[in-house]
Amino acid sequence: MSDRSTISLTVNGEPVTAEVEPRQHLADFLREKLLLTGTHLGCEHGVCGACTLMIDGAPARSCITLAVACDGAAVRTIEDFDDDPVMAELRAAFSAEHALQCGYCTPGMLMTARDIVTRLPEADAARIRVELSGNLCRCTGYVGIVNAIQRVLKARAGNPSGA
Ligand code: FES
Ligand code: FES
Repeated sequence: MSDRSTISLTVNGEPVTAEVEPRQHLADFLREKLLLTGTHLGCEHGVCGACTLMIDGAPARSCITLAVACDGAAVRTIEDFDDDPVMAELRAAFSAEHALQCGYCTPGMLMTARDIVTRLPEADAARIRVELSGNLCRCTGYVGIVNAIQRVLKARAGNPSGA
């Protein structure tokens, strides 16, 4: 008897129905079944944040989220943010502030950064560092990342409409 379960969810706005094994985590499901490889895997223990994506509007670690637990959920991966204005500002700021080197942490960093910008518009550097504490980067030393997020927050504070 199969111990697989059928789940239905939306991924980047598209309805998906699939069979999953009980122990398959969401990141493997997205990467291997849907070929959405923008979600990276580092530690697979919920520590590094490389696998961060959005589930029902909140950041989540897809390596410690079972795919079967996402039945009915709305999942958004980095691939869904190509046309997102906040993400566009963050991408430009990350480039300008040298906030990435190898780029391995970057999809997860951008997901968390976008959450900071949208949820905490008055965050200072100290608060940004607290919010980023679940995302590890082995290259940059974080200064550029914090500066990039501050750059976006300042720009948006001076232009609240975001236009
Ligand atoms: S791969 Fe998920 S937190 Fe490290
Ligand atoms: S840019 Fe290499 S791990 Fe962050």
